[in-house]
Amino acid sequence: MPIKKTVVITGAAGLIGTSFCNAVASHGYNLVIADNNEERSEALAAKIRSDGHQAYACIFDATRPNDIQKLLDTSLTRFGNVHALVNNLYIRSGNYGADFFDVTYNDFSQNLSDNVTPYFELSKIFSRHFCSVNSGTIINIASVYGCIAPKFEIYDNTKMTMPVEYAAIKSAILHLTRYMAKRLKGYNIRVNAISPGGILDDQPETFLKAYGDNCSSKGMLSPDDLCGTLLFLLSEESRYINGQNMIVDDGFTL
Ligand SMILES: NC(=O)c1ccc[n+]([C@@H]2O[C@H](COP(=O)([O-])OP(=O)(O)OC[C@H]3O[C@@H](n4cnc5c(N)ncnc54)[C@H](O)[C@@H]3O)[C@@H](O)[C@H]2O)c1
Repeated sequence: MPIKKTVVITGAAGLIGTSFCNAVASHGYNLVIADNNEERSEALAAKIRSDGHQAYACIFDATRPNDIQKLLDTSLTRFGNVHALVNNLYIRSGNYGADFFDVTYNDFSQNLSDNVTPYFELSKIFSRHFCSVNSGTIINIASVYGCIAPKFEIYDNTKMTMPVEYAAIKSAILHLTRYMAKRLKGYNIRVNAISPGGILDDQPETFLKAYGDNCSSKGMLSPDDLCGTLLFLLSEESRYINGQNMIVDDGFTL
């Protein structure tokens, strides 16, 4: 019997992470739920196990390099292999989401370091292992707002905005993806990104309408709408796709 491959998903207990976890576990992978929210992670792992799949919750803080090394070591001890790392977490820190002119030097700096640096450190530590076994896959979750300039007009008449730090973080993650895909050439390691469009989460009607007018059919997506792309990038079907960004946004960026 072929060995079951293990997928580690960070930010796994959040909105998108929960859908990713259900999809990955139900497609026969061993799943490591890597998040700093113990209650939601343990509940999700218990639910997935009760559905008859393999899931283990590893509570870690992505801003601590020792926790990241422990995450890799624990995943290997628990399941015997790690096939893929899905960098999905997001840390809202340093006054996240303020208007451009209200973002201070320290807010900007804190948000960038809290979000770009863990993606780098997780990728570096996991790819050291991937190099040693000559196999591995990294999938970074970026955003349409790392790909295009904001459509500020869709936020008119709402309290929402598109934060400047988010644009900087997500575009950095996209370029980190290309950098690593090239740096890790020759080790049978693939590094790709998924850039989701907006995800439904109780946003105001005026915003949903303005957003939807920029799309082809559905408008804002549900987290489950991203899972097919994740499963494809995890699978052998995508074995010759490397260093790419898959935009899943119902045509929002067109
Ligand atoms: N929701 C959207 O509309 C949307 C759109 C495009 C891209 N994305 C991206 O998708 C990813 C997931 O988004 P989401 O909406 O599910 O976010 P979310 O806030 O629901 O989930 C983020 C998860 O990260 C975990 N986390 C936070 N700090 C952590 C830390 N220090 N260590 C470990 N875990 C930590 C949280 O506990 C949470 O479970 C993010 O990278 C986000 O930028 C989201």
